Amino acid sequence: MFGYAQPLAFEAPQEEAALFRLIRELVRPYRAALGVVLVAMLVQTAAALAAPWPLKVILDSVVSHRPLPKWLAHLIEPLMLNQPQMRLATLAALALVAIALIGAIASYIQNYYTESAGQWIAHDLRMRTYHHLQKLSLSYYDSHQTGAMLSTITDDVNTIQQFASASTLGIAVDLLTIVCMVGLMFWLNWDFALIALGLTPFLLLFVSRFKRAVKQATHEVRKKQSNIVSAVQQGLESMRVVQAFGQEALEQQQLEIVSKASVQAALHARRIKSSLSPVVNVAVAGCTAIVLARGAALILRGAMTIGDLTVFLAYLSRFFKPVEDLAKMSNTMAQAAVGVERVQSLLETDVITPEREGAVDPPPLNEGLTFEHVAFHYQPDQPVLKDVSFSVKAGEMVGIVGPTGSGKSTVMSLIPRFYDPTNGTIRIDGTDVANLKLQPFRNQVGYVLQDTVLFRGTVADNIAFGRPGATREEVIAAAKAANADEFIQKMSAGYDTMVGEGAQALSGGQRQRIGIARVFVRNSSILLLDEPTAALDTESERTVIRALEKLMKNRTVIMIAHRLSTIRDADKILALKDGVVAEQGTHEELMAMNGFYAEMHRTQFNDSSLRECPRLARGEAALQTAPAAG
Ligand SMILES: Nc1ncnc2c1ncn2[C@@H]1O[C@H](COP(=O)(O)OP(=O)(O)OP(=O)(O)O)[C@@H](O)[C@H]1O
Ligand SMILES: [Mg+2]
Repeated sequence: MFGYAQPLAFEAPQEEAALFRLIRELVRPYRAALGVVLVAMLVQTAAALAAPWPLKVILDSVVSHRPLPKWLAHLIEPLMLNQPQMRLATLAALALVAIALIGAIASYIQNYYTESAGQWIAHDLRMRTYHHLQKLSLSYYDSHQTGAMLSTITDDVNTIQQFASASTLGIAVDLLTIVCMVGLMFWLNWDFALIALGLTPFLLLFVSRFKRAVKQATHEVRKKQSNIVSAVQQGLESMRVVQAFGQEALEQQQLEIVSKASVQAALHARRIKSSLSPVVNVAVAGCTAIVLARGAALILRGAMTIGDLTVFLAYLSRFFKPVEDLAKMSNTMAQAAVGVERVQSLLETDVITPEREGAVDPPPLNEGLTFEHVAFHYQPDQPVLKDVSFSVKAGEMVGIVGPTGSGKSTVMSLIPRFYDPTNGTIRIDGTDVANLKLQPFRNQVGYVLQDTVLFRGTVADNIAFGRPGATREEVIAAAKAANADEFIQKMSAGYDTMVGEGAQALSGGQRQRIGIARVFVRNSSILLLDEPTAALDTESERTVIRALEKLMKNRTVIMIAHRLSTIRDADKILALKDGVVAEQGTHEELMAMNGFYAEMHRTQFNDSSLRECPRLARGEAALQTAPAAG
């Protein structure tokens, strides 16, 4: 009617559509609660509208002896005994209290249920976003900062929560309040109402301008805030490296840059936002002044009652409140729109490892695993694997060697489908792995990587991570098999010692043995070992290798090794170079070939000065085989 809807509408229609579609979906389970909120808000509005009327009755009918409006006189007739004036005053006073009481109760109910609905909606949205993030392929994480995701799942979700609960209904109620007030003012005295509301269109114009500016500024603020989260997160995650290289100042400086940018953006947004209240206040004062002067003249001429003027003044002071609220809401709405945009873009990211229609349960691996002409790249113009073919028979142990950066780890991550090959096929017992049910298949695979990541929790929890639901006996048996039981027993609380972030730290060898115990618990038939001993010194390497030997028994194993001695006894060794399997065969066969592998072997073992120090020998070998690698 007054064009309120127009300035509040969004610039981009599909953005608006996305906002409302998502909110509708989120709100659906809480319709009942929001219904209660809506009713409470309507009651509140009615109470606000009724509030100045007892005063009008007193001023007009008690003090000035004017007759009551007919419907009201009729309504309260049975209550009017003798002394009608005093009686009326008492009734008006009681009505004032009753109106306030009803308004108060409605406000309480509205507040509580609004918060409740908003909180639960935020909870759902958080879970939904996180669930989605967990499904995303690792390639998404290669190219996106986790800080931004963090900021979305916390801050943006909170913003949407505030909007979803309070604002959507608030808008409706505010509009209703405005319409009712305007209606009542016109009913009381229409030409006077016209004067009183003359300023409104200008105010609306201002508000709509204001809204656009606020949205832009808000977007900027959110972006800057998420940069801070990213910077801090990155710094904290790599604190060890930062301290080791003495780069604290650099990190601090980087944070300072983004933090200052955020301050600037926030202050800019605040400058815009703070201009609203003063402008509205001055406008209201102007209207009030006109109403007072003009009203006084009308009353003196007898064209209006004092009570009418009171109602007008009361409404006028309240009238601009919803207008202001609407403008402020456009602020919340702008923030919510930005939040939804960010959440939507996460939810719409479909870098999901697909499970094909009609996927089957994985076979138990009776025959083996084959790579058929597999090609893969992370970046389109940089092929990592060009044409990789090989096969691993069930129960075999296969070693992969090759210069650093030759794609050994990449070959491994293709097997459990962390990435899908860009060309070629990987088969388990003849079935394309892309046709297998993803989770059951991944359950068949166990990993030990160069460094075992420990989660915050007890040692037992960390081992049981390999297979949720593992019993304490199974955990201990696995730890024993992994040669970890001994050092775990010596820890302050044994298997219940807290490890991981902010708790007791473990050495590299101890971590690896927990990683091995984790795979023992998992008991998977395919084992992928990516340089599990690379980060260890000779002493702990020995204990870890002993544990690995037990683990590898009766399983199909693919093991990447820099140190060739670790895979010397493998059933087959693949030498990876320039994106293809350059040579394959047993150690003896490859040595007899006297090619690439034999060359690698010579550099590692024939330099007698290095032989005494295997770690150096390995580093040297890496340098020599891949001089270009950083
Ligand atoms: N997540 C990734 N995103 C983009 N490129 C990647 C990614 N992981 C690896 N690469 C690139 O792919 C190539 C092969 O990497 P990969 O980790 O498979 O080598 P590798 O043989 O395991 O090396 P290393 O012996 O050093 O572990 C490298 O050039 C590397 O830069
Ligand atoms: Mg690697």
